Parts: sequence; structure tokens; C-alpha cells
Amino acid sequence: MINFADKTFFITGAGGGIARATALLVARHGARLALADIALEALETLRQEILQDTPSAQVSLHRLDVSDAQACRASVAACVEFHGSIDHLVHSAGIYPEKRVADMTEAQWRTLMAINLDGTFHICQAVIAHLREGSSIVNLASLAAQRGSYAHAHYAAAKGAVISFSRSLALELAPKTRVNAVSPGIIATPMTRELLASKGPALLQSTPLGRLGTAEEVAGSIAFLCSPLAAFITGETLQVNGGLYIN
Ligand SMILES: NC(=O)c1ccc[n+]([C@@H]2O[C@H](COP(=O)([O-])OP(=O)(O)OC[C@H]3O[C@@H](n4cnc5c(N)ncnc54)[C@H](O)[C@@H]3O)[C@@H](O)[C@H]2O)c1
Repeated sequence: MINFADKTFFITGAGGGIARATALLVARHGARLALADIALEALETLRQEILQDTPSAQVSLHRLDVSDAQACRASVAACVEFHGSIDHLVHSAGIYPEKRVADMTEAQWRTLMAINLDGTFHICQAVIAHLREGSSIVNLASLAAQRGSYAHAHYAAAKGAVISFSRSLALELAPKTRVNAVSPGIIATPMTRELLASKGPALLQSTPLGRLGTAEEVAGSIAFLCSPLAAFITGETLQVNGGLYIN
């Protein structure tokens, strides 16, 4: 049931851990890829990796700052020109800066919201007109939305809003397009390197499955939600956290 032949995935934050694993996975199942990130170099490296892994893959690269609505529209238009249409949006771009509320400046709050929340609105809005029948959107939320996260209140607030936004968009885009969120726990990627260095052992102790998650495991959940296996699932938030938070 996981066959993405002739399906185009537009993946943001593609230079990062979770999106990279997703791109590699869906390419193996036949997907065409539009890879977008603010860091173009990481995308070039990923394209080489994908082509080594899946030589037949069709890949386009897009330098994109998701906080810029016009840039989102331009990247989506370039993707459609190259691939013809969009079937799945996986929106994984995001930042995770540490700052306690008492010390946070207005500018730090705004920057986080511009990327993690406004970016979600911009890229989802930009793809809507190009989505095909049977399409889907998966937005990356976070355990922080449900549990809170010390010194990351702005991040947690934005991710809570991403979940609410995804639910509402699911209502607007049904039945043509399904919209879901994946809410990872602690996953070993560049984003969590500092967190794991300082709090890794404590986090492992409170995780029932007793280990960190991998980017590949989150990618598997994303691929599932985009596939026909999840054809009756929309407006859902899938927790991928090893039991660290049980809803
Ligand atoms: N790793 C985890 O434990 C974890 C946990 C919960 C949620 N998440 C969420 O999953 C998503 C992916 O996380 P990851 O661990 O792969 O992170 P990562 O840091 O490895 O990747 C994030 C990517 O987003 C890109 N990016 C940053 N700002 C951007 C912008 N303005 N426009 C476009 N791209 C931009 C970065 O260049 C990077 O390649 C994020 O939304 C993150 O909040 C991750």
C-alpha cells in the first residue's frame, strides 16, 4: 500500500534530520521530490544521497525561507513547473531556540513565530491550489505542544497552534486533501543535539520505551499518513514519542 510512484512530495526543512529521512524513504517508494530549506548546501548533499540510494529519483531543490509568504508561493510555483503538481506537503522546517520567558525579547518571540507558526500558514496556503485529488499535508508538531518545554515556551506555543491549525485545515480541505500532524518526542537529530548533551540520561529514564527515537521512525509515521493506509485519517495528531507522553 506504500507506493508513491508519480506522487510529488514537497518537503520543507529538507536539510534537517526528520525531513531528510522522510525524503530518502519516500524516494525509495517511487516519489518525486521537491526539497526546500533555507540552507541550500544541505539540500545539494541530500540530493546526492538520494540519487545514490534511488538513482531513478526526480529531485528539485528550492532555497526557501518559510517565514516569507512570497518565497513560499514562488517555490511552490517552481515545484509545480518542474513536477507538474503536488500530492503531499511535509512541512518540517523549524527552529528550537532555548530562552526562558523572563529573558525573551519581543524580537526572539516574533522570529520563532514567524518561522514555526507563520511559516506553516504560508506554505500550507501556497500549496492548496496545486494539490491533487487524494493529496495530504503532514505538519510537524512536537511533544512540547502537549507537555510544555522548559525554556521553550515560544516553541511550545507555536507547535500547539500548528496542531490546531492542522485540525481546522483538515475541515477546510476535506474530502480532496487530508491534513494531519506528527508530534515527535525526543528524536536524535541536529535540532536536539544540545538538549541531549545536557538532559539525555534523564529523558531516557522517563521514556517507557527506554531510548531516543530516530528520524527514520518519524519518517515512517509521515509516510504512513501520506499513504492509502491512512486514507480515512484526517485532522489527527500522531504521537511518536516512545510513551514519553501518553494522551
Ligand atoms: N528532533 C526532535 O526531537 C523533534 C521533536 C519534536 C518536533 N520536532 C519538529 O520536527 C521538525 C524537524 O525537526 P528536525 O529534528 O529534523 O530539525 P533539524 O534542525 O534537523 O531540521 C530543521 C530544518 O529546518 C530548516 N529551517 C530552519 N529555519 C528555516 C526557515 N526559516 N525556512 C526554511 N527552512 C528552515 C533548517 O535549515 C533545518 O534544515 C521541526 O519542525 C521540529 O520542530 C523535532
